[in-house]
Amino acid sequence: MVEVESNNALILTLAIGGAIVAFILYFLRAAKSEEENEQQKSADRKPQNNGAAKNTEESKQISKKKQNHPRSELKAVAFSHPWLYTSLKGHSSTILSMDFSSNGKYLISCSDDRSVFLWPSKDFSNKEHKSLRINIEFDHATKVTWSPDSKAFIIHKSVENCVEVYKLNKKSDGHGFSGSTKLTTFPKHHIDEVIAMGISCNGKFIMTCSKSTDLVLWDLKGQIIANVDTYLMSNNCGRVSPCGRYIAASGFAPDVKVWEVVFNKSGDFQAVNRAFELQGHKSGVLDFAFNCDSTRVATLSKDGSWRVFDTKIDYKKGEDPRLIQSGKFELASQEGNHIAISPEGHLIVCSTGTKISFYSVESGKCEGSIQDVHSGPITSLLFDSSGDQLLTSGDRHIRVFHNIVGFKLKLASLKASLKSNLSSAMKDRIQDQISQTEKFLVKFKN
Ligand SMILES: *[C@@H]1O[C@H](CO)[C@@H](O)[C@H](O)[C@H]1NC(C)=O
Ligand SMILES: *[C@@H]1O[C@H](CO)[C@@H](O)[C@H](O)[C@H]1NC(C)=O
Repeated sequence: MVEVESNNALILTLAIGGAIVAFILYFLRAAKSEEENEQQKSADRKPQNNGAAKNTEESKQISKKKQNHPRSELKAVAFSHPWLYTSLKGHSSTILSMDFSSNGKYLISCSDDRSVFLWPSKDFSNKEHKSLRINIEFDHATKVTWSPDSKAFIIHKSVENCVEVYKLNKKSDGHGFSGSTKLTTFPKHHIDEVIAMGISCNGKFIMTCSKSTDLVLWDLKGQIIANVDTYLMSNNCGRVSPCGRYIAASGFAPDVKVWEVVFNKSGDFQAVNRAFELQGHKSGVLDFAFNCDSTRVATLSKDGSWRVFDTKIDYKKGEDPRLIQSGKFELASQEGNHIAISPEGHLIVCSTGTKISFYSVESGKCEGSIQDVHSGPITSLLFDSSGDQLLTSGDRHIRVFHNIVGFKLKLASLKASLKSNLSSAMKDRIQDQISQTEKFLVKFKN
């Protein structure tokens, strides 16, 4: 109890300090943006063709501007697309990471504007989106993830290069959250930039993975329980499987390595064991993703191809992951290369630069692409738990798309299933689903 009180006093002190700093920052920022506006206006007033001298002067100004404002300050562009469900607006700079709570009620996002936003997902259909803004003092979060119980969130802080855990405070009426309280700051461990973070669904461990070859498992109090050298030359991506059994990493070497994290019957950590590898790419794997029940993994490689593996295997009996499908994508940019797989594993989305493309896992064919989704390279792709929506980030807005390709693939498979020998009750139910899906898709005929 005493500890709680002194904590409260500390939080109050921090809050007052934070408020003052925020106030000052606000004024600095306001002054800066006014100055920017003025610069923009005067640039607009300049005649278009004013000789080479002027041009170099202008380009000097532009490059100076670029130096002052890294890509994080990229402005969001006006964007419309028939599949766009909504755009979530609130962050003032590039969004770096997103996650849905396991109960599906909230999306959480973080940005280098030093904020974390909570978005109620039931609000996506409304014109106005409610959100809760949480400030990260003197630093910003590069990664954010929900705790499995949807009551806390975990961030990775950029400057301090460490993990921090925040508990969400419920509103007094019990509906929604009013703010958050910092619970734990993990000790700084990684020397290089952390490129991935995850938590197991059973809450037994948190994984962090740096740009070099180290991968670390922590307990929730911030104690290191295991250190793994990935031997990938350098790491590109790390994930905890949704089933909580595996951790995996990819990097400069072409194989994705998968380990099993073993606990004994009383829940004590035992070991990290090599499980299996996803092989076949000719170059480093830039990104990979598990589907919702960890039975499929999609990989995206620098060799310009993607692969989908069946990982529903008993590796202890010597079974290897099976390649289900592979295909090519256009690696158009050094940045923004990500992959997502739909919860059921029938569809993948690849991004490169500011473009996203949808591929059917069954046929391997590209079933649709959307260009210029963001004004900067895409930073993350995320399916909602139903797979009906795909979310993207890449500037200060989050785009929520209807997964139209997913609906079309579902329709085709429903129609195909009618041909098999089914009871008439079953056929009626499928027919119902077909007409519902068709009715929904009519709105998106283009
Ligand atoms: C689990 O491991 C811990 C520590 O390694 C040990 O103390 C405990 O007895 C083990 N429990 C079982 C059920 O094996
Ligand atoms: C279809 O299923 C029913 C029972 O489920 C069976 O009696 C019938 O022989 C099956 N027909 C074919 C063509 O397989």
